[in-house]
Amino acid sequence: MKFFLFSVLAIGLGLATVDSVSSYNYYRLPTTLRPQKYYLRVLTLLENPEDLRFAGTVKILIEALQNTRNITLHSKNLTIDESQITLRQIGGEGRKENCVSSTSVNPSNDYFILNTCQELVAGNVYKLSLPFSADLSRPLTGYYRSSYKDPEANVTRWLSATQFEPALARKAFPCFDEPGYKASFVVTLGYHKNYTGLSNMPVKATKPHETLPNYIWCEFQESVPMSTYLVAYSVNQFSNKPSTLPNGALFRTWARPNAIDQCDYAAEFGPKVLQYYEELFGIKFPLPKIDQIALPDFSAGAMENWGLVTYRESTLLFSANHSSSADKQFLANVVAHELAHQWFGNLVTMNWWTDLWLNEGFATYVGSLGVNEIYPEWNSKDRRSLSSLLASFHLDALASSHPVSRPIEKVSEIEESFDTISYQKGSSVLRMMHLFLGEESFRSGLKSYLERYAYKNADQDNLWEAFTQAAHRNGALPKDYEIKTIMDSWTLQTGYPVLNVTRDYMARTAKLSQERYLRNTQLSPDLHVGCWWLPLSYTSKAEMMFMNTAPKSWMECSKAGESLSKTIQDLPSSDKWVIFNIQLASPYRVNYDNQNWKLLIETLNSEDYQSIHVINRAQLIDDVMNLAWTGEQDYETALQVTNYLQKEREILPWKPAFDQLKLLNRILRQTPNFGFFKRYMKKLLTPIYEHLNGLNDTFSSIQEQDEILLKTTVVSWACQYQVADCVPRAQEYFRRWRAEANPDENNPVPVNFRTTVYCSAIRYGTDEDWEFLWTRYKKSNVDSEKQTILTTLGCSKEVWILQRYLEMAFDSKGAIRKQDSSLCFQAVASGQVGFLLAKKYLIDNVDFIYKYYCAETKTMARFFSQISEQVISMRDLNGFKVFVNNSRQYLKDVHQAIEQTLETMLINVQWMDRNYHQLSRSIQRHL
Ligand code: BES
Ligand code: ZN
Repeated sequence: MKFFLFSVLAIGLGLATVDSVSSYNYYRLPTTLRPQKYYLRVLTLLENPEDLRFAGTVKILIEALQNTRNITLHSKNLTIDESQITLRQIGGEGRKENCVSSTSVNPSNDYFILNTCQELVAGNVYKLSLPFSADLSRPLTGYYRSSYKDPEANVTRWLSATQFEPALARKAFPCFDEPGYKASFVVTLGYHKNYTGLSNMPVKATKPHETLPNYIWCEFQESVPMSTYLVAYSVNQFSNKPSTLPNGALFRTWARPNAIDQCDYAAEFGPKVLQYYEELFGIKFPLPKIDQIALPDFSAGAMENWGLVTYRESTLLFSANHSSSADKQFLANVVAHELAHQWFGNLVTMNWWTDLWLNEGFATYVGSLGVNEIYPEWNSKDRRSLSSLLASFHLDALASSHPVSRPIEKVSEIEESFDTISYQKGSSVLRMMHLFLGEESFRSGLKSYLERYAYKNADQDNLWEAFTQAAHRNGALPKDYEIKTIMDSWTLQTGYPVLNVTRDYMARTAKLSQERYLRNTQLSPDLHVGCWWLPLSYTSKAEMMFMNTAPKSWMECSKAGESLSKTIQDLPSSDKWVIFNIQLASPYRVNYDNQNWKLLIETLNSEDYQSIHVINRAQLIDDVMNLAWTGEQDYETALQVTNYLQKEREILPWKPAFDQLKLLNRILRQTPNFGFFKRYMKKLLTPIYEHLNGLNDTFSSIQEQDEILLKTTVVSWACQYQVADCVPRAQEYFRRWRAEANPDENNPVPVNFRTTVYCSAIRYGTDEDWEFLWTRYKKSNVDSEKQTILTTLGCSKEVWILQRYLEMAFDSKGAIRKQDSSLCFQAVASGQVGFLLAKKYLIDNVDFIYKYYCAETKTMARFFSQISEQVISMRDLNGFKVFVNNSRQYLKDVHQAIEQTLETMLINVQWMDRNYHQLSRSIQRHL
């Protein structure tokens, strides 16, 4: 295969012609052509830090599906030497020479368009060869640069890596960059022989570079057919830890050499969960090898590239001395998520980004099954399910939310889709389906879907069809029900309903109705109208059947999408409560008549509270707090529910409680009545803090992960509200650490307390405490510890320290990597003093921040959520609107985040008007 001499190429760059602008302006590629195979050769130059770049050639075998005179493909920020482009017919009738007569570009869609000398004829196959080159990208997308300090040689080492999802393969090589264009890839990497090259497939052969001394070409085996966004390669000087899996694929975990001892855990867990998926799906992992690699610079959390899964260091590396139980569980979840994608996403891929949720919702749900399988003792499945439900309830209650399956016309819209709706709501609706179908139908539906569409693309209708067939085969669904009808109501409509249950205590019946739950209470009533197919599971105090999540019946919708009225019979006597939606099997809220709430409150506040299933206790808290927020319940009722928390010792009900109390905390701490709220919080927290023995016990006696996590969370809240001896104990730990002769080697703070201890020490500490922690940050070799420190450095209440910290976070020459600056911003913004500073920083520097992320504004979306929860006055909201208006050019790609921010602010303003006095009065009654 012909390849340019390096020097020739350098000259060649200067010759690239200026392309004219094309009129083809549709956001999807024309369907006239289909790529079959890519031969991709890339030479990577990492020796000169001042000049890090790559150059390559891609040869694409293209089948013409219709006659056409042009080839439209994607290319972004690449220099293409047009004089070297060749086009030849290689298959089909005749073997005519062809060529490219002219080219044009369409920058708004990243198109590079080649006009051909001869018409391409349907049925024929052509070979297009394109040379390209560019600097290794500075933003962490496309083919990009990363670096780390090698402490032994005391030098900076450079490496390269890819991040192509969703639409950035086009920054690395010209290609048909849509998920539907699957093709096989033969990747060949050229690099200095002191480096290692990795790609999706195993190495096939290496040979010396023709001209560059000490350079080699490393050719990888041909891949299976796959989408461009899953192609990956990296050139680095990493070490690896091989895992052994009986009869399985070769499985290796990679990291910089100084961190290789942190790979053990991922190397052990990865293969186990991969093997579980092979059994669950009944389909072997199809590649001969799989690598997972921890990259020092990485913009997302992890990426599922087929056979070469990339991670942040903090999501793959684990250090027993420095990482907490929460870190470990997070890590397992990330690995399980990415490996689930090897089937969901990689083997079967969505046709178009509209159905991104098929990828992300499935990986999220199946990932939680994977972790649960390997560590049943963690009880993590219910925690994950609940946390997905709560997160999606919160976001999806906004009018500015969007359907799970959403139309996509711009790259920025694809990026916006990687959100709570695709992940958490997607996962919650799949869990619902799993629970109403049962194990057998769920599994067989999955398997036939994966088998039917392997190496191909699918959309959600294909999935529904597979499940309907499986469910009907197994008798898991009435024959006149279709999964599509049910599930479309969840994935095509924005939002979710609240089920209103009104009992007739004499007749022992209940009348049911549904309406959309919205937190913004000033919307037109039309917006509340909607119909969701609701699986109705329920039980009562007479029955207490909390294990059976199968629906007893359904709340149906008419063909026109109207809710059909429904009455439930045979309910118990008037002194016994009923509960709907057992174990929160489906993502809807439930409101009851006053009498039923009263009965529930009685049981919750009695010794018998555990007779209500722990997930339903969580549900009652989240529902009543939200219904009180919107005025459909009063805060008196809500506080009677939360009152029982003084007895609650399990983590699940505390989760929604903390989430909801946090929202109130953020509002109330800006008001004169915060004192009452603080006293109320102390009242709720003290019993559990004491029960768990607070900071006095170092977890040595606790084995259960549930309990460790609960204690970690409770302690963090307790110190925030200065419960008992929490803060002095935390400060004591920190003092002991400061007194260590070698604090980077020896840290006496128990790993699970570190966030709380550091945060308390910084909040109530001195400038020197801050400097001490910052120095530890710079010296730490463990990324999860570094993240903990970055978060807690924001706990300061000193204006100048926070101001300086914000500036440090956006200093490209400083110690904080670009990937972590949003973490620092959020850490500052979540504090009561920091919030005002962070908001001002964002407003004053939006142009700079935009440039800092090189206009890749996805990261900017993260800046708004912290800010939005804390604006509570109309004046501040209006001020923010002015800012948004004046900064349109920087915020154009984060449209959705802005809409959601403004709506959240408005909701807070409404809350102040409606609820502030009511809640303040109720709280005083409960002190
Ligand atoms: N496919 C995504 C990675 C991704 C995210 C690519 C956003 C492009 C844009 C990956 O599978 C993923 O979901 N990663 C998560 C971590 C996961 C455990 C939830 C992430 O990066 O946050
Ligand atoms: Zn994912």
